[in-house]
Amino acid sequence: MNAALLKESFSLIEPEKDEFAASFYQRLFEKYPATRAFFANTDMEKQARTLAATLAVVVAGVEKGEDLIPTLQKLGARHKTYGVVADHYPIVGEVLIETFQTTLGPKWTPAYQDAWVQAYTVIAQVMVS
Ligand code: HEM
Repeated sequence: MNAALLKESFSLIEPEKDEFAASFYQRLFEKYPATRAFFANTDMEKQARTLAATLAVVVAGVEKGEDLIPTLQKLGARHKTYGVVADHYPIVGEVLIETFQTTLGPKWTPAYQDAWVQAYTVIAQVMVS
């Protein structure tokens, strides 16, 4: 994972992280309405912040060289109890990248895209394992 690129791009999103998270869920539910059922009893405002916060924690942890595997495996196991299966991960990854693209516009570079696709793929793989 390229922690420097993740951190740099995440700092660009920081000032508008609430809008970013809200737009993420709007896009997810528009493109994949079936995912709405997962969040039927969820406080969306809180959940949106949780997504942004988790990304920040993962980025910061990678930066410090922390071993995030046990934490991510536990997070993945909890997702299984929410009814989330492996097939849902690429959907969320795709929507995440698109939300970065639309929120940051020209500030979103191919290098950021590569870094996030790589990081998300690894994170999702560990969560599913
Ligand atoms: C890298 C991928 C993901 C990360 C980092 C992530 C992160 C989180 C975190 C931190 C929570 C808070 C609750 C907890 O810690 O157990 C959570 C809850 C949840 N996530 Fe994810 N998630 C990911 C992928 C997904 C996917 C693919 C889905 C399915 C569409 C999903 C659906 C949910 C649901 C339904 C909850 C529970 C919401 C509630 O409390 O009502 N997540 N996620």
